[in-house]
Amino acid sequence: MMIVDCGLRIANPRSAIRNPQSGVLMAWIMKNSGTMQVPRRDEPYLTDEMKQTLEKEYLPRFPRKQAATIPALHLVQDAYNCVPYQACEEIAAFLGLQPSDVQDTASFYDEFTVEVQGKYLIMLCQSISCELMGQVELQEKIARKLGIEPGMTTDDGRFTLRPCECLGSCGSGPCALINHDLHEDITFDNFERVLDSLE
Ligand code: FES
Repeated sequence: MMIVDCGLRIANPRSAIRNPQSGVLMAWIMKNSGTMQVPRRDEPYLTDEMKQTLEKEYLPRFPRKQAATIPALHLVQDAYNCVPYQACEEIAAFLGLQPSDVQDTASFYDEFTVEVQGKYLIMLCQSISCELMGQVELQEKIARKLGIEPGMTTDDGRFTLRPCECLGSCGSGPCALINHDLHEDITFDNFERVLDSLE
């Protein structure tokens, strides 16, 4: 077994594929998915109510069922504060896709998480415009107020603080999302007032 630069473990270096340009071993042989244990529960994550919402509100808008993947992921994430693997399987079965299609989509977007997030997910933009407007200091102060490091959730499960990339509001930085609400021109004082006003 060997460790490559990216930190991924290649189970069998002889079967790994070498990039012809860089000579670097490609790491996709590292998977242990054959023995991976997926936590399961009897009750489905994708409820009948969610399926009805998808059927009535979303599927009629799109020529292909696959296009409803993101709305389905949002329904699950909003309900459980995470998208477990079992939920990806259920969404895939409902939309006629492979579970890996749904997981690929879920893992691409910051909005969807495998781990349970706090009731309030704070996504603080760390891209260049917001950084120039004081995001670093702001993030330190917010983290100190919440008593956590970025990427963590408070012990009471109320807040998760996560840096993210551009939220598309670069002219009014620093900015952040709290769940689905965009906050712009943030100072620590005005953001602290918002946090203190949340239940
Ligand atoms: S850089 Fe922060 S919203 Fe674009």
